[in-house]
Amino acid sequence: MPSRYASITGWGHYAPPTVVTNDDLAQKMDTSDEWIRSRSGIRERRFAGEDETTATMSVASGREALERAGVEPRELDLILVATSSPDYLTPPVSSQVQAMLGAEGVGAMQITVGCTGFVYALVTAQQFIQAGTCDTILVVGTELISRWLSYDNRSTAVLFGDGSGAVVVQATDEPCGVVGHVLGSDGAGAEHIIVPAGGVAQPATHEAIDDDLINVKMNGREVFKFATRIMGQALDEALDEAGMGVDDIDLFVPHQANRRIIEYAAKEAGLPMEKVAVNVDRYGNTSAASVPLALAEAFDDGRVQPGDTLALVAFGAGLTWASAIVELAADLPALGERTTPPQDEATPLP
Ligand code: UT7
Repeated sequence: MPSRYASITGWGHYAPPTVVTNDDLAQKMDTSDEWIRSRSGIRERRFAGEDETTATMSVASGREALERAGVEPRELDLILVATSSPDYLTPPVSSQVQAMLGAEGVGAMQITVGCTGFVYALVTAQQFIQAGTCDTILVVGTELISRWLSYDNRSTAVLFGDGSGAVVVQATDEPCGVVGHVLGSDGAGAEHIIVPAGGVAQPATHEAIDDDLINVKMNGREVFKFATRIMGQALDEALDEAGMGVDDIDLFVPHQANRRIIEYAAKEAGLPMEKVAVNVDRYGNTSAASVPLALAEAFDDGRVQPGDTLALVAFGAGLTWASAIVELAADLPALGERTTPPQDEATPLP
């Protein structure tokens, strides 16, 4: 038994105020609200404003998580930012976040593992805390994919949205935190979710831009097959490691890519939908932000309580997958204080 555990003590999320509905997209490309809803369960998504970046959104959710935990930025030992859409190829966005938070001199690392990134980052934080080298870590998942979508590619452009979620994890001797996990990868499926140009394999030349190779390409059918296969497997393996069964799960927080994938995974696992966090209808697929966004909303809505057991499962580019069984500390402060703006307060697309 480890003597140190990593408790989630704070959480926050940020969704840009601009709402883009399916009908808004249908005015820009050959698609329809009916197609998008029936194939993916998405009703609307948020798009970042011109003055927003992955760094600014990370700071918004990160600050909320720090305030909730009662932690000053300079008290952090490490900042982990999971994203596949950083402000720049280099420097890592984690250093921008560190500076903007005022976390002077704190180590900061960007973790790029597609939509799976936040779960990888949370497990990484737990390992640092359990090893005794860190006491307090900020873990952020943020994505600003709307700037990488091409309206010429309708099968991908309708699926994604922008957002950010964050948690603070802190050392404790009370058994809690990540009690079982799986990190997986199969690079043989690399081409199924890819931004072909802009890296060193194919620099962003004029030709690459003309050929629309700097935007996200996805083989939806292949990813769908992979997702429905891997989610159940990743959940079972993490439960085994934790010595638990499906009945021990109070809330399943899956990657929000497609409502059909989530329902399939829940059914296969034998989990009723009342125990599943779903917000893909309101945010679309926010990639590495999707699990922490859903998690933070579940905290705010009082869907989880101190002592509860959560199962986080994600999959994405790489191809990669990850799962984590997370026990909430019994001494967490009261949950259920809603900070999500009600839908009618959101700003519609101009
Ligand atoms: O986080 C990253 C992980 N990504 C995912 O999890 C995505 C997984 N895949 C999916 O969610 C689904 O495969 C999609 C939602 C992307 C697509 O659903 P599908 O049921 O697999 O549709 P499809 O790709 O097989 O396309 C069916 C038809 C095609 O027309 P034909 O060839 O049957 O005439 C497409 O051209 O739907 C057409 N189509 C569209 N029609 C209207 C594709 N995109 C659209 C669109 N609007 N936006």
